[in-house]
Amino acid sequence: MTETHDKALVGRVALVTGSGNGIGRATALQLASRGAVVGVNDLRPEFVNAVVDAIQASGGHAVAIPQDVSTREGMRQAVLGLAEQQGRLDILVNNAAWVRYQSIAEIAPETVERMLNIGFKAIIWGIQAAAEAMDAERGGAIINVASVAGLISGKNSVVYSGIKAGVMGITRAAAAELGARKIRVNAVAPSAIPTEGTMRNRNAELDARRIARTPLGRLGTVDDIARAICFLAGDDSAFMSAQVLTVDGGITATNIV
Ligand SMILES: NC(=O)c1ccc[n+]([C@@H]2O[C@H](COP(=O)([O-])OP(=O)(O)OC[C@H]3O[C@@H](n4cnc5c(N)ncnc54)[C@H](O)[C@@H]3O)[C@@H](O)[C@H]2O)c1
Repeated sequence: MTETHDKALVGRVALVTGSGNGIGRATALQLASRGAVVGVNDLRPEFVNAVVDAIQASGGHAVAIPQDVSTREGMRQAVLGLAEQQGRLDILVNNAAWVRYQSIAEIAPETVERMLNIGFKAIIWGIQAAAEAMDAERGGAIINVASVAGLISGKNSVVYSGIKAGVMGITRAAAAELGARKIRVNAVAPSAIPTEGTMRNRNAELDARRIARTPLGRLGTVDDIARAICFLAGDDSAFMSAQVLTVDGGITATNIV
């Protein structure tokens, strides 16, 4: 952990899906640095252990949850297992995804299935399990990781754009239903962030074009997104629900040349 933060999340228990790498990893580290006990979930156990070790080495608290959360059963085990072990659940970050960009002609049924299972259905099962686990009096915060691709679309992203627009709809509908139980549901919509998951879809020329079109003149980082997620997870956003917070250096809402 390179940053220090106020311990605003001491006593809270958080689960971050897909936090072995990328945006999820940065989010797990930042939630822990703010005092939360973090359930580090990922398909890849070696990544989970490395993140848990990093959190513990900085004096934070983390629990390893090496598990596939792309099925209802897997998601329930992760969410309810952590809640049972820690005695509570306050924060769920639905971050895990598996992404392929394919032209319309290339889209294959198995790609759609896999992307939908982890990117769309798992969000629903995560919200369902979290609503069950969160305390009726204290409530909680659910943050879904969407994308600017759910707002504006490019080529080769029929499935991805569709899923991320869907995640925004799920966010609003879940917020409408769960508000009475003090559960806030919000989403973040990041622009292109360098991670292992996006390497195959990036190159220097594309990055340079994106940077030129971005008012803040740079690509975002995983920590930029993690900070926004921490804001939505904590009391500083206590009266925010059903929102999609775009974290993109200004690129989506502008058209600079
Ligand atoms: N990086 C970007 O440019 C960008 C932009 C907008 C939105 N996003 C979204 O942010 C989120 C994280 O993206 P990233 O770039 O950090 O991804 P990443 O591929 O770097 O990391 C995702 C992690 O999720 C894990 N994972 C995948 N399937 C899983 C499953 N079934 N169960 C548990 N873990 C699983 C992977 O093992 C991996 O460690 C995704 O929802 C992505 O769509 C990313």
